[in-house]
Amino acid sequence: MKKTILITGGLGYIGSHAVIEFVKSGYEVVIIDNLSNTNIGVLDNIAKIINYKPKFYEINLINKTGLKNIFSNHNFDGVIHFAGLKAVGESCKNIGLYHNNNIVGTINLFETMEKYGVRNIIFSSSATVYKVNSEINTGLKETNLTGDTSNPYGTTKFVIEQLLKDYKNHKSWKVINLRYFNPIGAHTSGLLGENPNGIPNNLLPYIMKVATGELSEIGVFGNDYDTVDGTGVRDYIDVIDLVRGHLKAWELVENQNTKGKMEKKKVESKNNGFFETFNLGVGKGVSVLEMINIANKVVGKDIPYTIKSRRSGDLAIVYSDSSKANKILGWKTKISTMESIENSWKFYKKLKIKD
Ligand code: UFG
Repeated sequence: MKKTILITGGLGYIGSHAVIEFVKSGYEVVIIDNLSNTNIGVLDNIAKIINYKPKFYEINLINKTGLKNIFSNHNFDGVIHFAGLKAVGESCKNIGLYHNNNIVGTINLFETMEKYGVRNIIFSSSATVYKVNSEINTGLKETNLTGDTSNPYGTTKFVIEQLLKDYKNHKSWKVINLRYFNPIGAHTSGLLGENPNGIPNNLLPYIMKVATGELSEIGVFGNDYDTVDGTGVRDYIDVIDLVRGHLKAWELVENQNTKGKMEKKKVESKNNGFFETFNLGVGKGVSVLEMINIANKVVGKDIPYTIKSRRSGDLAIVYSDSSKANKILGWKTKISTMESIENSWKFYKKLKIKD
């Protein structure tokens, strides 16, 4: 029988790509989303790509009664939890909104999961939980220190990781905690991608909006860092590679479940929960100017930029050491930065035609 997975935030940027890959891999998927940073058209585009429209509920995780109704309608084997607000700048202005939406919503989700005996989860965390400074910011490993987050958005990810440890320790949950670096790219069909409301905060959506002519130029935040060309260096991972990491993580949860059952026979009272963290990144950094140069090749023209002062809170270099995921999950990124930008460009050109 098909396994049924609940995907929270399943109409968002990463969630929508995950829905596609999980359905393609034979899972039954149920989506919940409050449509706060996406729209229902994404569900139609998912249906166009996979010739099938997954069951969708429009709901905010703050609505616990609504959540219980959904859990009582389905028999979930597990949850992939993407839902959450994610704009770093906005989180500093609207702290309560982020705490409520991301943390309280997640507490409701976890309580409902426990009530219905759904104890397998993949959580979408972020590299932002690492305690980084100018000395330790390269080749980040899962064992690097976390905490002392620099913004409320990061705090919500950090707190949720701690909540999950409680469920693992005391309720035997099987948890895979995935720390993403900088997701970019789009579905190869050009039907799904990242289209933030308003002016984008992140580099590639901004570059794309300059390329379409919607914005006039991109500001490069600082060219005096100690990097290859003075601009900030990040680890840009393609969204499809990223969701493939989730598939591998799910396989690990399923294998652990089988192993857990066998162990349970021997020691009935043993807690067989587990909590495993994996970085998902390419493992190498690309500078802002390198990104603009690749984008220039893809779009066939020079994207205008000006050098601005450094953005507060930014670090010179942040990239992952993803060797744990490579080894244990048997996962590797396959898609080049150029291909990611080509797919994004396809997506943005289609949006432009619609306007
Ligand atoms: N940048 C510019 N101009 C822009 C936007 C960004 O020069 O208009 C630069 C930044 O200074 C940085 C790089 O491009 O050097 C990447 O910036 P992003 O805003 O795209 O991404 P960040 O690395 O700052 O943050 C991202 C996510 C966060 C997450 C963090 C984890 O946006 O949600 O990675 O490391 F927390």
